[in-house]
Amino acid sequence: MNDRLIAAALAARENAFAPYSKFRVGAAIEDALGRIHTGCNVENATYGLTVCAERVAVFKAISEGARKFRRVVVAADTELLTPPCGACRQILWEFCGDVELDLVNLAGKMETYRLKDLFPKPFDASYL
Ligand code: THU
Repeated sequence: MNDRLIAAALAARENAFAPYSKFRVGAAIEDALGRIHTGCNVENATYGLTVCAERVAVFKAISEGARKFRRVVVAADTELLTPPCGACRQILWEFCGDVELDLVNLAGKMETYRLKDLFPKPFDASYL
Protein backbone atom coordinates (compact mmCIF):
# COMPACT_ATOMS: atom_id res chain seq x y z
CA MET A 1 0.00 0.00 0.00
CA ASN A 2 1.52 3.31 -1.06
CA ASP A 3 0.27 5.39 1.85
CA ARG A 4 2.56 6.89 4.48
CA LEU A 5 0.05 6.66 7.29
CA ILE A 6 -0.77 3.03 6.56
CA ALA A 7 2.93 2.19 6.29
CA ALA A 8 3.52 3.92 9.64
CA ALA A 9 0.76 1.93 11.35
CA LEU A 10 2.09 -1.34 9.95
CA ALA A 11 5.63 -0.45 11.06
CA ALA A 12 4.44 0.54 14.55
CA ARG A 13 2.73 -2.83 14.84
CA GLU A 14 6.16 -4.45 14.60
CA ASN A 15 7.01 -2.81 17.94
CA ALA A 16 3.97 -4.23 19.74
CA PHE A 17 4.73 -5.58 23.20
CA ALA A 18 2.16 -8.37 23.21
CA PRO A 19 3.73 -11.45 24.85
CA TYR A 20 0.44 -12.42 26.51
CA SER A 21 -2.14 -12.13 23.75
CA LYS A 22 0.31 -12.37 20.82
CA PHE A 23 -2.16 -9.98 19.16
CA ARG A 24 -0.09 -7.19 17.65
CA VAL A 25 -1.68 -3.88 16.75
CA GLY A 26 -0.27 -0.68 15.27
CA ALA A 27 -1.87 2.74 14.99
CA ALA A 28 -0.90 5.92 13.20
CA ILE A 29 -2.47 9.36 13.43
CA GLU A 30 -1.90 12.24 11.06
CA ASP A 31 -2.12 15.68 12.63
CA ALA A 32 -3.23 18.92 10.96
CA LEU A 33 0.38 19.76 10.09
CA GLY A 34 0.86 16.43 8.32
CA ARG A 35 2.98 14.96 11.09
CA ILE A 36 2.53 11.27 11.82
CA HIS A 37 2.25 9.91 15.36
CA THR A 38 2.39 6.17 15.93
CA GLY A 39 1.61 3.66 18.66
CA CYS A 40 1.56 -0.06 19.34
CA ASN A 41 -0.16 -2.06 22.03
CA VAL A 42 1.83 -2.35 25.24
CA GLU A 43 0.73 -5.25 27.41
CA ASN A 44 1.41 -5.90 31.08
CA ALA A 45 1.65 -9.02 33.24
CA THR A 46 -1.40 -7.76 35.16
CA TYR A 47 -3.28 -7.90 31.84
CA GLY A 48 -5.59 -5.08 32.97
CA LEU A 49 -2.90 -2.42 32.63
CA THR A 50 -2.47 -3.13 28.92
CA VAL A 51 -2.75 -0.05 26.72
CA CYS A 52 -4.00 -0.33 23.15
CA ALA A 53 -2.09 0.95 20.13
CA GLU A 54 -4.63 3.69 19.46
CA ARG A 55 -4.34 5.25 22.91
CA VAL A 56 -0.56 5.07 22.82
CA ALA A 57 -0.60 6.93 19.50
CA VAL A 58 -3.04 9.57 20.73
CA PHE A 59 -1.19 10.20 23.98
CA LYS A 60 2.15 10.39 22.21
CA ALA A 61 0.69 12.94 19.78
CA ILE A 62 -0.85 15.04 22.54
CA SER A 63 2.37 14.99 24.53
CA GLU A 64 4.21 16.26 21.45
CA GLY A 65 1.87 19.24 21.25
CA ALA A 66 -0.41 18.09 18.43
CA ARG A 67 -4.05 19.11 18.89
CA LYS A 68 -5.86 18.70 15.55
CA PHE A 69 -6.03 15.43 13.66
CA ARG A 70 -7.04 14.41 10.16
CA ARG A 71 -6.95 10.67 9.96
CA VAL A 72 -6.31 7.50 11.98
CA VAL A 73 -5.11 4.09 10.76
CA VAL A 74 -5.32 0.87 12.80
CA ALA A 75 -3.33 -2.15 11.58
CA ALA A 76 -3.65 -5.76 12.70
CA ASP A 77 -3.09 -9.19 11.20
CA THR A 78 -6.75 -10.19 11.02
CA GLU A 79 -8.99 -11.04 8.08
CA LEU A 80 -11.90 -9.39 9.89
CA LEU A 81 -10.37 -5.93 10.28
CA THR A 82 -9.70 -4.89 13.88
CA PRO A 83 -11.72 -1.90 15.15
CA PRO A 84 -10.77 0.22 18.18
CA CYS A 85 -12.11 -0.97 21.54
CA GLY A 86 -14.66 1.11 23.43
CA ALA A 87 -12.08 2.86 25.61
CA CYS A 88 -10.07 3.86 22.54
CA ARG A 89 -13.19 5.16 20.79
CA GLN A 90 -13.82 7.45 23.77
CA ILE A 91 -10.22 8.71 23.74
CA LEU A 92 -10.22 9.14 19.95
CA TRP A 93 -13.46 11.12 20.21
CA GLU A 94 -11.99 13.43 22.86
CA PHE A 95 -9.04 14.42 20.69
CA CYS A 96 -9.99 13.66 17.08
CA GLY A 97 -13.77 14.12 16.99
CA ASP A 98 -15.48 12.63 13.97
CA VAL A 99 -12.21 11.64 12.31
CA GLU A 100 -11.64 9.31 9.33
CA LEU A 101 -10.64 5.90 10.60
CA ASP A 102 -9.02 3.36 8.26
CA LEU A 103 -8.72 -0.26 9.36
CA VAL A 104 -6.10 -2.31 7.52
CA ASN A 105 -4.49 -5.72 7.62
CA LEU A 106 -1.21 -7.16 6.38
CA ALA A 107 -2.79 -8.47 3.18
CA GLY A 108 -3.69 -4.97 2.01
CA LYS A 109 -7.38 -5.08 2.92
CA MET A 110 -8.80 -1.74 4.07
CA GLU A 111 -12.12 -0.39 5.32
CA THR A 112 -12.83 3.28 5.98
CA TYR A 113 -15.19 4.56 8.68
CA ARG A 114 -16.04 7.83 10.40
CA LEU A 115 -15.57 7.61 14.15
CA LYS A 116 -19.13 8.91 14.65
CA ASP A 117 -20.49 5.80 12.94
CA LEU A 118 -18.52 3.50 15.24
CA PHE A 119 -19.23 5.62 18.32
CA PRO A 120 -22.71 7.15 18.20
CA LYS A 121 -23.89 9.53 20.95
CA PRO A 122 -20.54 9.95 22.70
CA PHE A 123 -20.25 11.55 26.10
CA ASP A 124 -17.95 14.55 25.80
CA ALA A 125 -17.27 18.07 27.05
CA SER A 126 -20.48 19.34 25.45
CA TYR A 127 -22.38 17.69 28.34
CA LEU A 128 -20.33 19.29 31.10
N1 THU B 1 -5.69 -4.04 21.03
C1 THU B 1 -5.26 -2.86 20.49
O1 THU B 1 -4.11 -2.44 20.73
N2 THU B 1 -6.10 -2.17 19.69
C2 THU B 1 -7.31 -2.63 19.28
O2 THU B 1 -7.97 -1.98 18.48
C3 THU B 1 -7.83 -3.90 19.78
C4 THU B 1 -7.03 -4.54 20.85
C5 THU B 1 -4.74 -4.84 21.82
C6 THU B 1 -4.96 -4.88 23.29
C7 THU B 1 -4.28 -6.18 23.64
O3 THU B 1 -2.89 -5.96 23.79
C8 THU B 1 -4.47 -7.06 22.42
O4 THU B 1 -4.79 -6.16 21.36
C9 THU B 1 -5.57 -8.09 22.55
O5 THU B 1 -6.75 -7.52 22.97
